[in-house]
Amino acid sequence: MMDEAVFGLERRVTEVRQLSSASQSFDVVILGAGAAGLMCAIEAGRRGRRVALLDHADRPGKKILISGGGRCNFTNIHCQPEHFLSGNPHFAKSALARYTPQDFLDQVGKHHIPFHEKTLGQLFCDRSATDILDMLLKECAESGVTLILNARVAEVRHNAEFFLQSNMGEFRAQALVIATGGLSIPKMGATAFGYQIARQFGIAVRECRPGLVPFTLHGEDKAALCDLSGVSTEVVARFGRQQFREKMLITHRGFSGPAILQISSYWDGHSAITLDLAPGKHLMAPLLDSAGSAGARRDVAAARSALRAALPARFADRLLEVDPPAGCTNHALAEYENHLHAWTITPAGTEGYDKAEVTAGGVDTEELSARTMESRRIPGLFFIGEVVDVTGHLGGFNFQWAWASGAAAGRSV
Ligand code: FDA
Repeated sequence: MMDEAVFGLERRVTEVRQLSSASQSFDVVILGAGAAGLMCAIEAGRRGRRVALLDHADRPGKKILISGGGRCNFTNIHCQPEHFLSGNPHFAKSALARYTPQDFLDQVGKHHIPFHEKTLGQLFCDRSATDILDMLLKECAESGVTLILNARVAEVRHNAEFFLQSNMGEFRAQALVIATGGLSIPKMGATAFGYQIARQFGIAVRECRPGLVPFTLHGEDKAALCDLSGVSTEVVARFGRQQFREKMLITHRGFSGPAILQISSYWDGHSAITLDLAPGKHLMAPLLDSAGSAGARRDVAAARSALRAALPARFADRLLEVDPPAGCTNHALAEYENHLHAWTITPAGTEGYDKAEVTAGGVDTEELSARTMESRRIPGLFFIGEVVDVTGHLGGFNFQWAWASGAAAGRSV
């Protein structure tokens, strides 16, 4: 059903031409028909620009379709610049201010797409992510965008114009927009092409790393915890000055869940992270309160029931097994309380790009105009979306960056 709808729309907007040796001329060529490329194409097309939107995949917007568990967390109504990581924390402000969550919601409303707020300002489709992709493809069609799939670009040259050699022939345009995304989920067609183009033109790229990604654990920690795979509990995950209070999930290889994914984007790759395993709770209070009362128990069984009252039972039992309090004195219990609110663990690593939702790092923002996303070095060359060194927190912020940076470039090309 979903496939039919998407391919039906594609047929309406696609003019896949088996091109002859003659080169095809457009005002703008956009490479990458993901969230950012589609938005850029719509904005440029609405301005009457002749736009070719090229993708090497056999369908556009694949990540939109799998996002948000198939319901696409398409924006966040609380979007602010502090929800983004970047070498220059000010860079995203301009684009985010000029294309807001409300701007995207206006489109969603125009297309009568039902949605709901799940939590923390995160907006999801009621039905399916297909609604968002269909909306973008309809807008592309109305803006006269030419969508060309299965296009593999072998070479990009530039003199007065940009020339792209591909299996579909040669394309030329005055403006070239790179919207090829990051490195996450290679099996869905992620490539390093955007970074290669940047380097080809002498544009700096900040080191890339997987972001919003589960942690793996070292052998001993893994043996102690990972058979609890599936257990989840609310924590505060901290690294450096960042902290996130959300759920953590134990997996068969380590830790995941929103709190872990969020903090993973800030992790330095080798140091310990800190977890408050029971935020806002006084775990040992029942034991301390019982001090002095007749028959009060302060043994392992009492500690177990105190922990079980605040944590998932299996996790509580395991903590007492592998990391028990030093004793039952007030002092030892108070120390244990502190220990569980600032529990440290050093991840072995992350699950890498195969499981990362995003790529942190990318095209250096110092190289780009914050207003238009155009290269300062090479006029006419633009970078938008995830390929740029702007990475959102979990919760719809990455799509908002894709829409906002795409709109910024689309209004300028
Ligand atoms: P995107 O990756 O979407 O698009 C890049 C396009 O370029 C692709 O169509 C690709 O085929 C094409 N391409 C790549 N190399 C090419 C080449 N050499 N030649 C031609 N084309 C090429 N974010 C969010 O805000 N809410 C959410 O719910 C989710 N959920 C989510 C789930 C999962 C599993 C993942 C992996 C990611 C998310 N995200 C998310 C993140 C979000 O999907 C991501 O930030 C955006 O899709 C980035 O948009 P871009 O258009 O920049 O890249």
